[in-house]
Order: sequence, then structure tokens, then C-alpha cells
Amino acid sequence: MHKWPALLAVLPMVASLVACGKDMPATSAFETTGEIIALSGGDAGARGACATCHGLNGEGDGNLVPRLAGLDPGYQLRQLEYFAQGQRRHPQMVWIADQLDWPAREKVANYYAALPVPDAAGEDLAAGDCAAATLYQRGDPARGLPACATCHGADGAGVGAGNPPLAHQPAPYVEAQLHQWANGERYGASDAMTAVSRLLTEREMAHLAGYSSGLPGASGYRAPPASCP
Ligand code: HEC
Ligand code: HEC
Repeated sequence: MHKWPALLAVLPMVASLVACGKDMPATSAFETTGEIIALSGGDAGARGACATCHGLNGEGDGNLVPRLAGLDPGYQLRQLEYFAQGQRRHPQMVWIADQLDWPAREKVANYYAALPVPDAAGEDLAAGDCAAATLYQRGDPARGLPACATCHGADGAGVGAGNPPLAHQPAPYVEAQLHQWANGERYGASDAMTAVSRLLTEREMAHLAGYSSGLPGASGYRAPPASCP
């Protein structure tokens, strides 16, 4: 809750910066920083202000809005292009991505990439998550399901620039993405995710989302509960 007053306090400042920029069109594009776009929405205007949905620190909303803090800038740019091209279909993000030109996208992606990964919102792994832990870490060869860990890392921190982190992403967001791939509503770089998500039951999607979002990320390995095999 305390984030909103802070955001309200900063908005007039940003608005005046943007207003200044409008008086000087020749230089405004160069003076607009990633932070100003994040707080003001850049060419998308206030409706597109990233921070209102993604949080003042890029931490996401704990629900259907992902964290952007610490995400690889190339990954973010690719997703913005997917929204603009319709390979991802969230109506507001599609509209916002379309309003931002390439330099603006680069600035805002670099801004979020440099923000520290927020503290884990994840709950401790419960004994009931053993099945999800096994699927995530080892996959299920019997049905041709590869381990999520191969691409997203045993700690959920992601692997390289192309395989995004799942740790510290909101569990409802992760679950929703798995549904989107399975239903053909998200596609793009990874045929792997379409194939993988179609092998999962709804229940497994929910459990995997809870498990992976609670992983420690790059901040260290969290052992599975002692009761797990
Ligand atoms: C109205 C709320 C809202 C605003 C404003 C908003 N976003 Fe989003 N954003 C979302 C939601 C919701 C998603 C997840 C969409 C989905 O389910 O595919 C998302 C997804 C994303 C993703 C994909 C992240 C990932 O892990 O794949 C990126 C990148 C992104 N937004 C960047 C931005 C930027 C940059 C801005 C500001 C210029 C912005 N967003 C403004 C709601 C918003
Ligand atoms: C062969 C590699 C591979 C495997 C195995 C894999 N993924 Fe992925 N996953 C990817 C790639 C690549 C992306 C990014 C796709 C894109 O750029 O659109 C991704 C994206 C995701 C995302 C979206 C993250 C975001 O920020 O929007 C989720 C959620 C996800 N994977 C969950 C899983 C789960 C759960 C498993 C195991 C059941 C799994 N993945 C197995 C490669 C893989």
C-alpha cells in the first residue's frame, strides 16, 4: 500500500519532465531515460506507465503482472515485440508495446534489467510439492517431459539470455503463462514451451507454478524438504 503515495509523489515530477521535453522536441528523445518511461509511460502516456502495474521497483504485483527487475534486456525486448506482433495477446501490453519505438523499448528494458531482483515472495516448499519438485528438477521421461531445470536452472534463475528466470515471478503469472502456451495464446521463440505445457495437467501447472516461483533464484540453492525422496 505504501508504494502508492510514493508513486503519486513522483508522478507530477515526471509529468513536468515530460512536459519540458515536449517543448524541446529536438532533444527530448535523447533526454528521456528508461526510468522516466517506466514512471510516465513514454509515448504511451500515463495509461502505459509501467510502474503502475509492474511496481515501483519492477517487482510485479504478486498476481498476474510479472516482475521485470533483473530480467535480461534482450528477453524483455523480444517479449515487447511479441506483444506488438500479436504472439502474446494481453490487450494492454499489446497496445503499450505498440506505442513505444525501439529506442524507448531499449531504454526501459535496460532500466528494468539493472534493478535488483526483489526478495523472494515464495513460500517454503511444502511436503505436498514433492511431485512438482520432481517434475521441475527431473522431468518425466515416461511422457517425454524434459526437466524445467534444464532450461530454467535448478535454482530457477534462468539459463543464459534466452531462458528466463521463474524464481521470484508471481505463481499466478507463471501458471497463466503455462495455460496460454497450452491454448496457443502465447507463442514465439520457444516451441519447447508449447510442447512442454501440453504435457502437463492443470493441477501440475498450478503446483509447478508455486514451486518454481518459490525457488531461490541466483541468491542460492534451497534444498527440497527432508521428506522428499
Ligand atoms: C495495465 C498494466 C500494465 C502496464 C501499464 C504495463 N504492463 Fe507490462 N505486463 C502487464 C501484464 C498483465 C503482463 C503479463 C501479460 C501476459 O499475461 O502475457 C505484462 C508483461 C510484460 C512483459 C513480459 C515479461 C515476461 O516475463 O515475459 C514485459 C517485458 C513488460 N510487460 C514490459 C512493460 C513495460 C516496459 C511497460 C511500460 C512501458 C509495461 N509493461 C506497462 C501489465 C502492464
Ligand atoms: C527446452 C527448454 C525449456 C524447457 C525444458 C522448459 N522451458 Fe520454459 N521457457 C523456455 C524458453 C526459451 C522460454 C522463453 C520463451 C519466449 O521467449 O517467449 C520459456 C518461458 C517460460 C515461462 C514464461 C516466463 C515469463 O517470464 O513469461 C514459464 C512460466 C515457463 N517457461 C515455465 C516452464 C516450466 C514450468 C517448465 C517445465 C515443466 C519449462 N518451462 C520447461 C524454455 C524451456
